Amino acid sequence: MNKIVDVLIIGSGVSGIYCSLNLKESLNVMLVTKSKLENTNTYLAQGGISTARNKEDIPVFIEDTLKAGQYKNKLEAVTVLAKESRDNIEKLLAIGVNFDKSSNELNYTREGAHSINRIVHTKDNTGESIQLALEKELKQRKNISIYEDTYFVDIIKEENKCIGAVLIKDEEQINVYAKAVVLATGGIGGVFRNSTNQRILNGDGIAVALKHKIKLKDLNYIQIHPTAFYEENNDEKRLLISEAVRGEGGKLLDINGERFIDELLPRDVVSKAIFKQMDKTNSPFVYLDVTFMEKDYIINRFPFIYKECLKRGTDITEDYIKISPAQHYFMGGIEVDLDSKTSMENLYAVGEISCTGVHGANRLASNSLLEGVVFSKRCARFINENIDDIESKIGPTYEVKDTLQNLIKINKNLVIKEIKEQCEEFEDELFDYR
Ligand code: SIN
Repeated sequence: MNKIVDVLIIGSGVSGIYCSLNLKESLNVMLVTKSKLENTNTYLAQGGISTARNKEDIPVFIEDTLKAGQYKNKLEAVTVLAKESRDNIEKLLAIGVNFDKSSNELNYTREGAHSINRIVHTKDNTGESIQLALEKELKQRKNISIYEDTYFVDIIKEENKCIGAVLIKDEEQINVYAKAVVLATGGIGGVFRNSTNQRILNGDGIAVALKHKIKLKDLNYIQIHPTAFYEENNDEKRLLISEAVRGEGGKLLDINGERFIDELLPRDVVSKAIFKQMDKTNSPFVYLDVTFMEKDYIINRFPFIYKECLKRGTDITEDYIKISPAQHYFMGGIEVDLDSKTSMENLYAVGEISCTGVHGANRLASNSLLEGVVFSKRCARFINENIDDIESKIGPTYEVKDTLQNLIKINKNLVIKEIKEQCEEFEDELFDYR
């Protein structure tokens, strides 16, 4: 089957949906996801979304982001991120995201390496509240058609110009021709045994970029989150224990009950310190302690974490939480400019699959949702301004002969091979691939 649309967006996390909502309503947009709309890393985000508190905070926020990123960040991108943060938070509020407030003022929490409290949140399930509010808005847009359970297999190109994509739904091949294709396919945590990410996220965009020689950047910049709930023999995604728990005072203790690190240092530093302490004490975990906080406060501020830990046999109001680090985020990806343009004409990348350079070698906590909204909105603006100059065309494609399961395996192996090569220095169990 052939289909023609103006814009094809692949992925339904914050960056895919927000991009679609910022496109002009005269455009015919198709948004596809290989699973259900909310089966995204966005939905899992707990801590919050950072924002400059005011004009004076912009340079401070920039410096915090650069310092956490080991100054490997792209300064221009960080500046855009900080300067455009506030407007996007206002827009999310207008769309209906219910960030926590007291006396009608936003509540700001803190996480590692932020020098002030600048993270807005909805208790400890910020991602879910953003995802659901965006989805509600999405479903009201008459110009956007939503395709769930629809696999992205490949792009369709002519020379170095993207003209569409090959999709598979219900075992049927759909060739979609579009003036602009936006990859919002998410991270790569699904290729790791030990990750907080949705298991379905195998880096589909990276596989396609490798096949078509689309420029990639910083594939060795993989973030390890310090605190994932420790469970023996669990092949599922790891339960994240938000950095906001440390931001609100949670303490890291080794198995002898000793503190060993300032909990609010950047993530890479804290993760390394935990590994060192695990080695030293010959233990597969350390503890996170919140038992000294008021019980009601814990249950009200971290209801999701409280309930999920309880399901796993830990009452966090009374027991130390066993934690160990886990793969969490991919700072590298498809190289894009400040308008999310890739090295291929009419092909864009937004969100975790893109590399704007904003995070450098280590992402500052709660900057991922922010990057998703800031750069996907810029992407939409660029498309809005330029799409009328692009001709719609049906070009040559090919018939997919392999089974979908095989195609998924081939793409996943391609990603694993490349990441392995780029991450040779990581030899520990974190880099155990699935
Ligand atoms: C967390 O809540 O610790 C995760 C937030 C993030 O990845 O920035």
